[in-house]
Amino acid sequence: MRLKGKVALITGGAHGVAGEMMGIGGAAAGMFAREGAAVAIADLNMEATQRTVAEIEQNGGRALAVPLDVTDETQWVAALKQVTAELGTPTVLVNNAGIAELADVEETTVEMWDRHQAVMSRGVWLGTKHVVAGMRQTGGGSIVNVSSIHAITGTPTLAAYHAAKGAVRSFTKMAAIQYAPQGIRVNSLHPGYTLTPMTQPGFEDPVIGPLVMSRIPMARLARPEEIAAGMLFLASDESSYMTGAELVIDGGVTAQ
Ligand SMILES: NC(=O)c1ccc[n+]([C@@H]2O[C@H](COP(=O)([O-])OP(=O)(O)OC[C@H]3O[C@@H](n4cnc5c(N)ncnc54)[C@H](O)[C@@H]3O)[C@@H](O)[C@H]2O)c1
Repeated sequence: MRLKGKVALITGGAHGVAGEMMGIGGAAAGMFAREGAAVAIADLNMEATQRTVAEIEQNGGRALAVPLDVTDETQWVAALKQVTAELGTPTVLVNNAGIAELADVEETTVEMWDRHQAVMSRGVWLGTKHVVAGMRQTGGGSIVNVSSIHAITGTPTLAAYHAAKGAVRSFTKMAAIQYAPQGIRVNSLHPGYTLTPMTQPGFEDPVIGPLVMSRIPMARLARPEEIAAGMLFLASDESSYMTGAELVIDGGVTAQ
């Protein structure tokens, strides 16, 4: 019961049904509910979100499906209103929604660049902007921003993704400093290569798959639960003295 009494909002957590391929946020939703949190899952994909919520409820947990495009400020306001009315004021926000399009610097289009900035950089800022008032009123909270190892080291592709995740990493430190006096902690999480619905096509590609594997000292992909465990730690009071920090969970990739 490491999150007992907390209300947690997780973006991009649609894929969390056991027996199906899970996303990192979906795995975290189930884990947070088992640890006593009431969990709001906000995503574009309501069909998958509803099924994840149903499974959490079947297992005795408390969950809510919330329609949200994280790029849209009006939708953030409506989503937080819904969560507060139905579950209570969120004191944990996991900004997890993400996209990743394979393209190097010259292949990247302006539209691609802007899409990544909108979902990751703008989305994380908007979530933070609108959740902090409630956290302040309830005496504090924890915001977990999902960045990536791609904000720390380079690769020859994913240009727009690298830049957007870098923005998440540095914005996290700024917000950590602004909100530390108000008891609101803000940390970034940096997952390594993790098999999820988003990455499966890339990791199963005959060219990309072996290339990715050759970069991992532990010689295997992460399971979503192994990354969600870091989210749980940062969301819980166990990390009460951490803010503005980077938690890397990557099988050794960035140690090289
Ligand atoms: N899987 C990896 O290898 C890996 C590595 C490093 C970082 N990450 C990051 O972890 C996070 C989760 O990734 P995942 O691989 O578990 O993804 P996933 O398979 O769960 O898919 C991402 C989810 O985000 C949702 N989403 C996308 N755009 C959205 C928007 N505008 N508004 C609301 N929801 C939106 C999608 O509907 C989907 O449910 C992402 O931020 C990703 O960049 C993943």
